[in-house]
Amino acid sequence: MPYRLRDSLQQQLEVWGQNHVLERLQALDELERRRLARQLEALDLAAASRASLAGPEAPIGTLLPPEVERHPTRGGRADLHGEAHAAGESELAEGRVAILLVAGGEGTRLGHDGPKGTFPIGPVSDRSLFGLFAQQLRALGRRFGHTPPWAVMTSPGNDLATRRAFAEQDFFGLEESSVLFFCQAEAPCLDAAGQLLFAARDRILTSPEGHGGVLPALVRSGVCADLAEREVVHLFHHQVDNPLVPVGDPTLVGFRVIRGCEIASKVIAKRASDERVGTWASTGNGPRVVEYTELPATLGRETDASGALRLWAGSINVHVLGRELVERVAAEAASALPYHASPKPLRALDADGRHIELDGFKLERFVFDAVPMAKACVLVEALREREYAPVKSASGAESPASARGALDRRDRAWLAEAGLSAPEGLPIELDLSVFDGPEAVRRRGLGSIEEAGEAILTAGAGPS
Ligand code: UTP
Repeated sequence: MPYRLRDSLQQQLEVWGQNHVLERLQALDELERRRLARQLEALDLAAASRASLAGPEAPIGTLLPPEVERHPTRGGRADLHGEAHAAGESELAEGRVAILLVAGGEGTRLGHDGPKGTFPIGPVSDRSLFGLFAQQLRALGRRFGHTPPWAVMTSPGNDLATRRAFAEQDFFGLEESSVLFFCQAEAPCLDAAGQLLFAARDRILTSPEGHGGVLPALVRSGVCADLAEREVVHLFHHQVDNPLVPVGDPTLVGFRVIRGCEIASKVIAKRASDERVGTWASTGNGPRVVEYTELPATLGRETDASGALRLWAGSINVHVLGRELVERVAAEAASALPYHASPKPLRALDADGRHIELDGFKLERFVFDAVPMAKACVLVEALREREYAPVKSASGAESPASARGALDRRDRAWLAEAGLSAPEGLPIELDLSVFDGPEAVRRRGLGSIEEAGEAILTAGAGPS
């Protein structure tokens, strides 16, 4: 029987003004029509049709600086941080924490051939981003007697290559059964007039639906249910492009516990009003994040009496999420996590079937849109030099070179805190599965860095 598009889908496309897609369906042969129809049915066209292409939909309203637990070196309470750290350590020891890595992005700006997580970043070892995170997971396993399950989100374009990279590296020394891959959904791309585009005669142009896709994908894939069976309560969420993140940081986990919140999130002081990070702000109904593309520049530039940025708190997308919150948000993802449109260069077919470059929009869900659905949220300040060094572009301020520099400086600071020094001028690198912080270096009681053998690499020596 010839394929018929569902009436509701046909209507949806008509109301949305996408008649060219219906015309295309008519022009295709049976097999192609089925292929295109199946793809259309899998996309969240309702959410896509609601995306605003003209910036934020609603006026942004009054935004106040949010309440933040400041870092102990910046006026915060050391005793409270200590209490949170101890609470987080006991959750890790009870096996109630999983690590949730979002690695579904296309990494277009970096231009690396392969999943971004395979990018070599270790200052001496050239270990990949995945490899550095895996070292930290191994350290958690050693310290707490439980290696947290590692939920890794991919997207259709990099799923196979990501799984292959893990297999080729023997899962970076982790148990294969503790790594749980799941694949996120895609969203349609739009041209400047909001029209759906074609990547092929019978395929709509799509891209991964943003890091917010992690919440519905976790549940849809069954990984959330798997984590529930493993009695995981807290999901430590971080991005693949920040090699400096302290994976599974007990203090952040513990703040969620001692404050009884559904989300605990890290903030850093923004470098400048136009830094490309989300901004944490309080709306009167609790905190939220405004993406940098959606924060009016005048508001972002406002300063307080001391000349400091009024909205100073930047988001680095490091959160500890309650598993139950994830389940709740996923159930309402279509409405709770709207698509945001970001202007991007695209490659699609023109009316004559030729590939062209054009300016259009990718549609993305943001994970921090879940914050207003949380029963409560606690924000904890992190030090940029210890926790945030993004790898976004091939060169410049957020590049592999800047991130390697930050890793090197952090490792030297840890050594210095333990009374050790490393030769200047040549990169060094600590094996994070052995030394997961200054305390671990101190405990080893080393007289010099040479005594650590391959656990401290200096330029010239290879990885173990
Ligand atoms: P970015 O927003 O920097 O995007 O991702 P990107 O795709 O990596 O890079 P560009 O913009 O194409 O250059 C921030 C984090 O969110 C993840 C990325 O993998 C990265 O960890 N992400 C982004 C997803 O998991 N899925 C997405 O659809 C988008």
